[in-house]
Amino acid sequence: MKMVNLAIFASGAGSNAKKILEYFSNNTGIEVVKIITNNPDAYVLEIAKQFNIESIIISKSVLKSEDFIKMLNDHKIDLIVLAGFLLKIPKELIEGFRGDIINIHPALLPKYGGKGMYGMHVHQAVKDANEIETGITIHYVNENYDEGKVILQEHVNIQNNDTIEMIANKVHQLEYQYFAPTIEKICKLIQNN
Ligand code: GAR
Repeated sequence: MKMVNLAIFASGAGSNAKKILEYFSNNTGIEVVKIITNNPDAYVLEIAKQFNIESIIISKSVLKSEDFIKMLNDHKIDLIVLAGFLLKIPKELIEGFRGDIINIHPALLPKYGGKGMYGMHVHQAVKDANEIETGITIHYVNENYDEGKVILQEHVNIQNNDTIEMIANKVHQLEYQYFAPTIEKICKLIQNN
């Protein structure tokens, strides 16, 4: 069976990254080989250490550099997983990278996506609009923020008196439940190709 190598890109707490690492820890065909962050203070670096995964801190300009893209290709990364990664993926990386790139967004795209729409800003906007539901969108990444082909959406209800933190928590629970199994399905597609 073809080995599928993953790189997780994350900018913050990395709780999704942690779930993914746990999920694949005993998998013999799918391996997380790199954690990439643009934030030297990101807790995801601590998680990388705990799981003994090599981590790399990069700047925005590195993302589109030939050396960085070559490094990903040389390590035979098949899938880049954006798990709370806040920089836009430049077209150089999309075009030069050998594999696929997927993202998780904490709302039901195409609503509440685009530049500046990340983390609590998304949940705040959902609350301000008095939405009765929100959810998650897992999608392929293209040059435009949050516009690639949708792979999976899951919904959750919002009560009138839910705070932004409660909405964030509900969305995180969906992410923990669905992100890793969805990644696994995509890896199986890659294995069968
Ligand atoms: C997640 O909720 C993810 O959907 C969101 O950032 C959070 C990261 O949490 N991503 C975006 O908003 C991207 N636009 P985590 O660091 O604890 O996994």
